[in-house]
Amino acid sequence: MSPEDQIPRLRDLRIKIFSDGADLDSIIDAYQAGLVKGFTTNPTLMAKAGITHYLTFAREVLRVVTDLPVSLEVFDDEFDEMYRQAHILNDLAPNVYVKIPITNTKAESAIPLIAKLSGEGLKLNITAIMTLAQVRDVFEVLPDDAKAFISVFAGRIADSGRDPVPIMQEALDVLRPKPGAELLWASPREALNILQAEWIGCPIITVTPDVLKKAQLFGKDLDEFSLETVKMFYNDAKKSGFRI
Ligand code: G3P
Repeated sequence: MSPEDQIPRLRDLRIKIFSDGADLDSIIDAYQAGLVKGFTTNPTLMAKAGITHYLTFAREVLRVVTDLPVSLEVFDDEFDEMYRQAHILNDLAPNVYVKIPITNTKAESAIPLIAKLSGEGLKLNITAIMTLAQVRDVFEVLPDDAKAFISVFAGRIADSGRDPVPIMQEALDVLRPKPGAELLWASPREALNILQAEWIGCPIITVTPDVLKKAQLFGKDLDEFSLETVKMFYNDAKKSGFRI
């Protein structure tokens, strides 16, 4: 068996791949391609995509995606208002997971709100988590039968110069006693992160369409890949008419 044969193809992975973005066409494409098992977005992605009417966008997504989880984020700084928004988003469709940031912008903990909403039976996606202490705090207040995604921003942890893999492994251990609380590897930086998440047994990773596209190269023959790269340089130099 060649080393290439040992690299799993996307379709053979156990990990659930979610698509992270706010471009409706990409969401529809990903849904129809059948590769992804859920969708996530956030206010920054929505702003970048030029969305101006939050609920219109949310309803459009939910009209297409009816049978996979869709995470939609609250965006106020007051917990009472987040609570109100959470119920509105939750009531849009049964497949909504309401995203609650782990704190507000004043660094006040969202844990009481998470406890309340989760206790009321809302499915949550706790977002912007970067420390194991935050994972433990969330774990403590989730009901035993809670349905929740615990979004740890592994890519941002890596951006800070820390290896996210041991942190994600420990987060898995923390969450293990409550199987409905699933660790979600958020903010990946490259396709390899999908395999790193798979190897440690992380149940979910959310990836942007560009990372997902790169992951279709898993197992590609490296001699072939090298030759394609050489051809790319050659053709681009030619097209540009470079001379030395
Ligand atoms: O899923 C989390 C993602 O939307 C944020 O990623 O790239 O801004 O760290 P990033």
